[in-house]
Amino acid sequence: MSLVRSLETAEVDAFYTLNEGRLASVTREFTEHFSGRVLYAVKANPLPKILHVVSRAGVAGFDVASLAEARLVHSTIPQARSWFMNPVKSRRDIERTFRDLGVRDYVIDCEAELRKLLEVLPSHDPELRIFIRFQCGRTFAVFEFSGKFGVSPSEACRLLSLVNAQSRWATGLSFHAGSQTIVVDPYLHAIRTAVDIIEAVSPAPTALDIGGGFPGHYLNVPYHSPLSMLSVITKLVRGTDALKRVELFCEPGRALVHDSISLFCRVILRKGGALYCGAGIYSGLLPGRQHLLLPARAWREGRPIQTEEWQDFIIFGPTCDSTDRLGFSYSLPRDLSEGDWIEFQNVGAYPETVRFNGFSVDKIVTVGQDELTMCCPPPFSSCSFTSGHRAK
Ligand SMILES: Cc1ncc(COP(=O)(O)O)c(C=O)c1O
Repeated sequence: MSLVRSLETAEVDAFYTLNEGRLASVTREFTEHFSGRVLYAVKANPLPKILHVVSRAGVAGFDVASLAEARLVHSTIPQARSWFMNPVKSRRDIERTFRDLGVRDYVIDCEAELRKLLEVLPSHDPELRIFIRFQCGRTFAVFEFSGKFGVSPSEACRLLSLVNAQSRWATGLSFHAGSQTIVVDPYLHAIRTAVDIIEAVSPAPTALDIGGGFPGHYLNVPYHSPLSMLSVITKLVRGTDALKRVELFCEPGRALVHDSISLFCRVILRKGGALYCGAGIYSGLLPGRQHLLLPARAWREGRPIQTEEWQDFIIFGPTCDSTDRLGFSYSLPRDLSEGDWIEFQNVGAYPETVRFNGFSVDKIVTVGQDELTMCCPPPFSSCSFTSGHRAK
């Protein structure tokens, strides 16, 4: 069903649009700018259609965080390879991903997890590669991971020596700068740390995974293009002798997928300055719950509303939960009322749709590259608003 038809029908109060052309071109550009293998982080959005598009657009494989994600990749694209890059794994997930799904790459950040791998996987198999995740040091991320994962460089050296002493496995290093990292410095700092570790251990790690974390475009966070970040990273890598024989990986999620999906929500009730919408934080708008201001605009009769009269609105989702509310107010046409639609853009990463009070968004409308203009058209270096949303 087309976008306009979906807006006219009374069938649902919320639906996604997926711009496959945009997803393919962003993925292609990203893979062309990275001088290693790009793995798509399935957790960012596991929709099978997305796995197909990024796979056709050049990703080398998939970063999975669980047996369920590895199974999803395997059943969607049977020939695809998965890397199990969650430092916390159950024995069952390790065993089944290895035995049934052909996974050969795992990450750890402590000795207890290494013991688990040594007990479950064949220690004589040189096809296996174990990555040690170390901490980045400095982060400039909206969503930080350093409190949960990663070891110090000296502990990384110790763990690498243990792997080398107790198995025939190949080794690698990995880090994650934190999701929505807005400057390149943490990557550069971590890559230099990796070089120090590589030079200190023998046999040296043969792979470096620089993780995900590349930023998406939101209205309240300074934007730095992932492509320019990749260019700086590539320059450092190419100029570093110790990395010449090291296989390079990255695991972007958000940067690939965030801006090919919009969520359209019908206004189902207006109460003064509050709009109650057909979707909320439980049904696709989690990215707008706390830290991120999403590009948004209003639609009426199948097209964006043009107006000079604006008002700031509080946005609530449709559930009975009072936390089902967006973290920022949104500037929208003053006369917005029941039956109009709000389009929240750039919601493709971590939309976290769960069924709560019976509300969820199950409908996806595929749109062409030209059917939906972006509030902030790419490149995103400066925001120019085509319609509907006023900068604050
Ligand atoms: C191990 C790992 N890799 C990759 C990603 C993807 O990060 P992003 O979506 O910020 O690129 C995450 C996010 O949680 C992660 O934990």
